[in-house]
Formats: sequence, structure tokens, C-alpha cells
Amino acid sequence: MKTIDVGLVGITGYAGMELARLLAGHPSMRLRMACSRAEAGKRLGDYYPFLNGMPGADTEISVFDPQRTAETCEVVFLAVPAGTAMDMAGQLLAAGVKVVDFSADFRLRDPGTYAAWYKREHTRADLLHKAVYGLPEFYAQDIARAQLVANPGCYPTSVLLGLHAAIRHGLIHTDDMIIDAKSGTSGAGRKAAVPTLFCEVADTFRAYGLPTHRHIPEIEQELSLLAQHSIQITFSTHLVPMNRGILSTIYARLKNPATRLADVRQAFGQTWQDSPWVRVLPEGTLPETRFVRGSMFCDIGLVVDARTGRLVILSAIDNLCRGASGQALANANLMCSLPVNTGLNSLAPLV
Ligand SMILES: NC(=O)c1ccc[n+]([C@@H]2O[C@H](COP(=O)([O-])OP(=O)(O)OC[C@H]3O[C@@H](n4cnc5c(N)ncnc54)[C@H](OP(=O)(O)O)[C@@H]3O)[C@@H](O)[C@H]2O)c1
Repeated sequence: MKTIDVGLVGITGYAGMELARLLAGHPSMRLRMACSRAEAGKRLGDYYPFLNGMPGADTEISVFDPQRTAETCEVVFLAVPAGTAMDMAGQLLAAGVKVVDFSADFRLRDPGTYAAWYKREHTRADLLHKAVYGLPEFYAQDIARAQLVANPGCYPTSVLLGLHAAIRHGLIHTDDMIIDAKSGTSGAGRKAAVPTLFCEVADTFRAYGLPTHRHIPEIEQELSLLAQHSIQITFSTHLVPMNRGILSTIYARLKNPATRLADVRQAFGQTWQDSPWVRVLPEGTLPETRFVRGSMFCDIGLVVDARTGRLVILSAIDNLCRGASGQALANANLMCSLPVNTGLNSLAPLV
């Protein structure tokens, strides 16, 4: 099998750490360039001892240099904050490198929406038309042809996979959807900050970001494209005292209040029958984050509340694997003409 040399900018973050773990088990991608400003000069296996003995452990962490990266790598993952990635991506694309960006910089198709929600102007709006939204279940063919993939956000991944079948089959009113989502603390990144210190998150449970979480325009954009009319959502996010995982509970009014759970299950089963990573759970079983931990699975549980005429969809993913690095690797697989699941077949460790 041909070896594909890859680079990772943002190696010291949680998303970078997870991608380093996944790449170490990939049969044909090799981590040749690992970038961080703070840890430059260190051997990767010294910084991440879990990598020792695996491919990539001897790579020296370096400061991002677009020219050197382009000379070394066929694909580069940008696991850096929004606002940082757009210029890096521009430099790499100009040098002919394929780019998977983890940040929000290329997810929103309208630069005005980006400016409104991210409070900064887009400096590379000229590249937005090249970016493909990287949800493999929806856009695999476009991803395979893309030079630039905008890897989806973690919450949007759970919500879009959760809602897709219900909207596609016209089961629900789309003007009154409420999404109540909870995330483990790694979703906030690895940088030191008071709100994510142990004593601030352990043994407590709080909402944050209401009612303007930055993932709202991304979710609304993709749902509106699916429904072919403009959709707005109510989206509440919470921080759970666990390391990783997202559980989104989605409430929507059924168009026909007499809809039976069996009808909903049939629509979901039909939509996802060829998507092995989306598991519609058996009737009466609700998803848990521990069963998708470190994996690409999205587990979906379905409840029909006949009394109130509502459909309740519960969608669980792992924010770091399915919601970030695993999905980025799936996209890179497609961009390199590999099977989408290459190096991504692991199950969750249960304890
Ligand atoms: N955490 C998640 O669950 C998750 C899920 C989906 C998407 N994402 C996205 O993935 C990206 C990384 O998230 P994360 O959680 O891994 O963040 P993080 O833990 O805070 O790590 C950020 C990384 O970016 C580097 N970095 C920060 N500012 C930089 C700059 N100005 N120039 C170059 N490098 C810079 C940092 O290293 P140095 O400071 O040493 O350079 C670090 O390696 C973000 O865009 C985030 O929104 C994260």
C-alpha cells in the first residue's frame, strides 16, 4: 500500500492528540510533520509517551512552516482555533496540499454569517467555494474530489446525524425544534482556563453559551439545505463532568400526532441502512456516550411521546473521534481514494 505523508498543525491540543492516536494505527498514513509553537523541538514520543514504539513517535515537533510542510506532506490537518486556520489553509492550498480544517473557518458558506457569529472578518472568503462540508454520510463524493474539507463541529455532527432521517422523511415540523445538548469537558480544548479547571467542572452541571452558541449557524445551514427552506433552532449546550462524549436530546413536533414509533423506526432504518457508523438502537434502548467513546459511531435512540405529539431523538457521539479527529481522518481517506473507514474500525473501551 502506498504511504501517504501527512502533517498535523495543533498537535498539542485535544483534537491533535486524538488524531495522533488514530494515525499511529493507520495502515498507510504516516505523521511526518507535527506542529506546535509551545512544544517545538521536542520528540513527539517524549511529549506523548503513549506513542512510543509506534510510527510517528520519532517525529520532531516543529513550528508551522507552510513551505516545509508542503514539501513534506500530501495532506495537512489543521487542528487549530478558528481564525488561525484560514490563512494556513490558503498557503497550503496554493502549494497543492490537501487540507482538512478542524475549525469553523470554512464551514459556513456565507462570510457575512461567519463574521456575525465569530466576530471577525473572513480573510480567505475567496476559498469558501472550494470547501466541502466534511460529513461523509452526506457528501462523500464531493469530499473525494475536494482539496479543502471543512470538518464539521462536534455538536453539529451529533445533531445533523440525529435529525437527518426525520427531516428527509417529512416526519416533523421544522419550525419548532429544541436541541438540548451536553458535552464532556474536552470539547472546550486543552488550553488552561479557569472555567475548565477540575474544581470548576467536577461535581457540578451547568449550561453555557445560551442562546448564541457558535455551532447554531452551522446546524441551521445544513438543516436548511436538507429541508430546502430556512430553519432556525433553539440550541442549549451544557458541560458535563466527564472527559469526552456528546449526548444531544432533540425535541420536535410530529406532523401527524398519530405517528407510531414503528413508522419512525422504519424511516430511520431506511435512511441509515448503508451507513454502518450510524446505529439506530433497538426499541426501548437509549444511547450512552460510553458506548461510542473513541469511535466513529453515532448511536441514535428514538422515542415517540404520543401524549404530547412529539418525537424525541437522542444522538450520542464521541466529540474527539467522531466529532473531530476520526471524522477528519475519514475525510482524508476519501480525499486519498482510500476506503472511508481505513484505520477507523475500533470499538469503545467499556471501562
Ligand atoms: N475539542 C473538541 O472536542 C473539538 C471538536 C471538534 C472540533 N474542534 C476544533 O478543533 C480545533 C482544535 O481544538 P482543540 O480542542 O484541540 O483545541 P486546543 O486543545 O486548545 O488546541 C489548540 C492547538 O492549536 C495550537 N494553536 C493555538 N493557537 C495557535 C496559533 N495562533 N497558531 C498556531 N497554532 C495554534 C495549539 O498549540 P500551540 O499553542 O503550542 O501552537 C494547540 O496545539 C479547534 O478549531 C476546535 O474548534 C475541537
